[in-house]
Amino acid sequence: MSLIPTNPVPKNLVYVLNGPNLNLLGTREPEIYGHDTLDDIAGQLEDRARELGLEIDMRQSNHEGHLVDWLHEAQAQAARAVILNAGAFTHTSIAIHDAIKSVRTPVIEVHLSSPHAREEFRHHSYVGRAARGTIAGFGALSYLLALEAAARF
Ligand code: DQA
Repeated sequence: MSLIPTNPVPKNLVYVLNGPNLNLLGTREPEIYGHDTLDDIAGQLEDRARELGLEIDMRQSNHEGHLVDWLHEAQAQAARAVILNAGAFTHTSIAIHDAIKSVRTPVIEVHLSSPHAREEFRHHSYVGRAARGTIAGFGALSYLLALEAAARF
């Protein structure tokens, strides 16, 4: 019997990836997205992650390719899950759709607002077609609910 595990030990790392304009949360259309900044949300996630025995790596970029690279990285790091708010790329990006399909790491789509209750152009989600599931419409709580899901994977 070998003492070296043959399967990689699943890590308790959860990537939280945020797309364009989410760096402006807090001042960006607060009537839609609320008053929490991305740092506020990161703090809430870190508190809950600690209770759940998870570690989070929270990032934001306004550039599509960064999100693609980070999805690949999440798999390379054997992350347990990715929580992804791709912002407007949700509705446009086949590259992000394909990246989600390309990795085995489960991806949870999140939105602060409820895109289906908004303009027609937000009703289609390329991310949602590839993600494990979607949580939308609960403001910062959407992220925390996604973390609860990730904890049960
Ligand atoms: C969003 C919804 C998207 O339609 C929009 O482009 C965003 C934010 C949300 O979290 O509600 O940038 O992803």
